[in-house]
Amino acid sequence: MNTSSCMGISTMKPCCRILSSCKGSSFFGYPFRKCNHLVTDNLSKPHCKPDNIDRVSNYANRVIGVRRVIDSNRSVFCGSDSNWRQSRILLGLNLNRETRLDSFIVNVASDIRNHSTSVEAQVNEKSFEKFYIQGGLNVKPLVVERIESGKDVGKVEEEEVRADINDGSNVNIKQSDNYLNGESASESPNERELSEVEKEAWNLLRGAVVNYCGFPVGTVAANDPADKQPLNYDQVFIRDFVPSALAFLLNGEGEIVKNFLLHTLQLQSWEKTVDCYSPGEGLMPASFKVRTVPLDGRNGEFEDVLDPDFGESAIGRVAPVDSGLWWIILLRAYGRITGDYTLQERVDVQTGISLILNLCLSDGFDMFPTLLVTDGSCMIDRRMGIHGHPLEIQALFYSALRSSREMLTINDSTKSLVAAINNRLSALSFHMREYYWCDRKKINEIYRYKTEEYSTDAINKFNIYPDQIPSWLVDWIPEIGGYFVGNLQPAQMDFRFFTLGNIWTINSSLGSHEQNESILNLIEDKWDDLMGQMPLKICYPSLEHDEWRIITGSDPKNTPWSYHNGGSWPTLLWQFTLACIKMGRPELAQKAVDLAEKRLSADHWPEYYDTRHGRFIGKQARLRQTWTIAGYLTSKKLLENPDVASKLFWNEDYELLENCVCTLRGNGHRKCSRFAARFQVGL
Ligand code: GLC
Repeated sequence: MNTSSCMGISTMKPCCRILSSCKGSSFFGYPFRKCNHLVTDNLSKPHCKPDNIDRVSNYANRVIGVRRVIDSNRSVFCGSDSNWRQSRILLGLNLNRETRLDSFIVNVASDIRNHSTSVEAQVNEKSFEKFYIQGGLNVKPLVVERIESGKDVGKVEEEEVRADINDGSNVNIKQSDNYLNGESASESPNERELSEVEKEAWNLLRGAVVNYCGFPVGTVAANDPADKQPLNYDQVFIRDFVPSALAFLLNGEGEIVKNFLLHTLQLQSWEKTVDCYSPGEGLMPASFKVRTVPLDGRNGEFEDVLDPDFGESAIGRVAPVDSGLWWIILLRAYGRITGDYTLQERVDVQTGISLILNLCLSDGFDMFPTLLVTDGSCMIDRRMGIHGHPLEIQALFYSALRSSREMLTINDSTKSLVAAINNRLSALSFHMREYYWCDRKKINEIYRYKTEEYSTDAINKFNIYPDQIPSWLVDWIPEIGGYFVGNLQPAQMDFRFFTLGNIWTINSSLGSHEQNESILNLIEDKWDDLMGQMPLKICYPSLEHDEWRIITGSDPKNTPWSYHNGGSWPTLLWQFTLACIKMGRPELAQKAVDLAEKRLSADHWPEYYDTRHGRFIGKQARLRQTWTIAGYLTSKKLLENPDVASKLFWNEDYELLENCVCTLRGNGHRKCSRFAARFQVGL
């Protein structure tokens, strides 16, 4: 694989320019009076240190907006109204103009305070940073250029950053961050010597870090030196970065996570097109790549470019629905672990949350509170028959809604959004608990279902034909224990067990306490099937024969018990660990971690394992897969300090259970199936 472009700034002379002049420009129709000072003063820093990246991003958001006025060379882009959507500051959140301007000026003032020393000594007129959007109508990518003349002021610090990242000797040592709440997650009560496997894992994780203009912004999906065809595994995937982020956060290192959150936020407001069609605003990319490209007209100089993939290059052109949901979940985790809530309070971050939610909550033709998506829109990003209302997306959706409700600043412009979130949370948990739940009793009910019922009181609401109950399930379902089925839509219930979705119903409390306990009981009971020799099966069982042919489209990568089709994915370990700790069963997680630990390092940290019991390294599995490594480290960190896990999961919200849209609208209870059902199932 070629990571040199990701890490390119370490080998090529980097450039970093700051847009130094905003003369004559305006910000939201207001004169941009302070801009020159702001930028000049900021430039006074010897160079952009990682801990300044949020400010740098702040400028980016603002500077992008004034680009139209200041750069006549880019008039094509700038002349297009649609391109104004690029700029987060111009997105219509109905924010009060004065408030925003005030807060901007406050920022300026504080930045000046922070950086007003040593300006003159370090800056000459050629040393500046610039953020802008490059290109024509299909505008991308975001560029941060760094150009220095004379003394290479950035170099020293970049080297420092790299040394930090690559030196394995300081692995479990809390690095530069000082968490604002004073309690670092790394200060666990059981601080202990790292095992050799952990040391290796930390080294590999740090080796997977991707820099952008000298700052760590993510980790590549896989760092397999023998891989001649990395495809897009040399990119930073949003979902893959989550366990890396948690490992860093739990180790007291928040900066890379903050950088990641802010940079992906900028990518969100990109002009994205797939064959002349623009997907919805608010979409987060599946992945992005940092490219180091020659600087136009400047011999031997290079610039770093962020290049997102919204699915337009992805195999199968799958929509990354889960990216935005993970982004929100990670934002909450960042705040709760570091105690730095200022990030989520920022106007651009608040706008980012709203945009994702607007996309998810917009009305369509759908009849259900679950999110309707196409196949392959989540971790399983290939055709696997998970189109419609797959469990994984619903569980992440629920978690993202709960996170957003905690993080959104309530004001006139967000009031209705928060109300919509509450309604959706309530309807979604009811729907899932009631209709997706599956245990021996429920299967027996379905077995005796009448079909073709036409009425609002129908028992078999989705018209599921009893013949759909697969023969494997009849024998497999234990007496004690149950799970959420993989998908539900008219006349179709996907009875496969999907691990990520079930684990997230536990972590987010989408399932009731009893249901969550039942899921862990089932996993324990079916240990050989779901854990086998390598935790955890992505789904159970695999599709075989005609089912495989028809549902996967004869996908040679997804043959039975391989990859997404019943393969085993060690990255799921951290999510399982979190669920076990939440439910007071850490010993179950420990057992799984012990199992994984026996093989992961010896097998070079594969992406996935194949065969019914996970005995073989996956046919096409990448080695040194970052989320395998990070998932393992995060699990270890959580088990070492189980108290910190409570910052990552959600407890039952009893108010939500009381909340019913029917009652709110004064429709009365007579036709409300929810109230009737609650009596039956004791929700
Ligand atoms: C595969 C996985 C996907 C992951 C990507 C990068 O496509 O299915 O979930 O994000 O690899 O690791």
